[in-house]
Amino acid sequence: MEDASRTYPADRCPAMTVDDILDLDSRTVPAEVRDDSWRDLGTDAVDAERYTSAAFFEAEKKHMWPNVWQMAAREDEMLQPGDYVVYNNVGRSYLIMRQQDGSVKAFHNVCLHRGRKLRTESGSADDLTCPFHGFAWATTGAIKHIPCEWDFTHLKERDMSLPELRVERWQGFIYVTESTTQVSLRDYIGSEVYDRFSRWRLDECYTALWIGKVINANWKAVSEAFMEAWHSIVTHPQILAYTGDANTRYSMWGDHANLALTPFGLPSPHLAADNLSEDDIIAAFSRTSGRSASLKGRKLGQGETARKVMAQTNRANYLDALGYDSADISDSEMLDAFTYNIFPNLSPWGGFVPNIVYRWRPWPDQNATLMEVRLLARKASDAAMPEAAEMRFLTPEQPWASVAEWGGLGEVFDQDMENLPYVQEGLIASANNRVELGRYQEGRIRQFHQTMDKYLSGQLP
Ligand code: FES
Ligand SMILES: [Fe+2]
Repeated sequence: MEDASRTYPADRCPAMTVDDILDLDSRTVPAEVRDDSWRDLGTDAVDAERYTSAAFFEAEKKHMWPNVWQMAAREDEMLQPGDYVVYNNVGRSYLIMRQQDGSVKAFHNVCLHRGRKLRTESGSADDLTCPFHGFAWATTGAIKHIPCEWDFTHLKERDMSLPELRVERWQGFIYVTESTTQVSLRDYIGSEVYDRFSRWRLDECYTALWIGKVINANWKAVSEAFMEAWHSIVTHPQILAYTGDANTRYSMWGDHANLALTPFGLPSPHLAADNLSEDDIIAAFSRTSGRSASLKGRKLGQGETARKVMAQTNRANYLDALGYDSADISDSEMLDAFTYNIFPNLSPWGGFVPNIVYRWRPWPDQNATLMEVRLLARKASDAAMPEAAEMRFLTPEQPWASVAEWGGLGEVFDQDMENLPYVQEGLIASANNRVELGRYQEGRIRQFHQTMDKYLSGQLP
């Protein structure tokens, strides 16, 4: 929606800004939703080798992964004392364990006898007995039993407690780090983003759906495909009628957090010439989105807009029906994509709709990624926390669209994944070793690489 009577900044899409859209909404948005923390991080090209070289992968493994905060589990995966989650990444294995008092500890998942992994799957246990010779630890990590103890009298002098990692909990996410010098999780994420999620209460949400699939591309290339919205024009044409792809506002805070705020319920600026009506927008949304069942066939009345009706429908479905008060919640927080990224590999959506959470890990090397997508649903206000759904692993042949529960979202993921193996092949084939980034719309990717360099050079943590 370009307004000919108005001048737009030369470095932004000439269309309504997010603030213009929020001005028309039915409720006042909280000040933090207006926060436009953009930084110009320059225009340097990124080396293609960062995605393809074994040496770069080893540098990440040595300098970055052990030193960052990693989301290792959700609370709802391990509700009861003795429940544990096994989190494996780049050759490390961590055991995240619920304690009797409800707190959480994290251990290196390695037997201190001869090194067998203590557990290979998540589960529940009264103690951690190693399946090889039977050394056993309490769930607190204290040594409990040494078989043939007469042969190990020398271990009485040694610390045989399971080595622990630092643990912090935020919005239902359980984070761990091996680093002893890394800042607190709040300082790492930054107070702006860390505190803002308190409003959206992701700790009231549980994993309703959890799908994983291995993608034949570098983990950074896969995650970067979810850091900008502007590929929609070519990759996801079916969502353009209700997606403000080029209206998206990009923000960054500190080294580890950023956001793409993509407004929904209005047509892409690329479709300006089509003059879509508000009814057309609703019709397209109910055809292709996973959150639209109750909008099928809905015609708008006098003065209604697609955006307001879609937000109101979500208010009714995702808050009122569950016993929460939605009266003051803004249209934007009921509808738009608040796609945050927390360095290095977690992308939790903000707002009040069922929140999507992406996590990416090398699987097992620089040429393949385990991509996980969760849908966090809000529990009923008077209900106990439900247990997380188990992860369903899709085979290479199974499309994302084979997951019936998420409606049109599956098609969107399949479209993304069609590009990615060819991105990897292209990066390997690159003759000039350069990846070029847009200054504005791809600024989050630039921030990501600049932060990565700080870890690789020892500037962080
Ligand atoms: S390796 Fe664990 S008890 Fe021997
Ligand atoms: Fe996409």
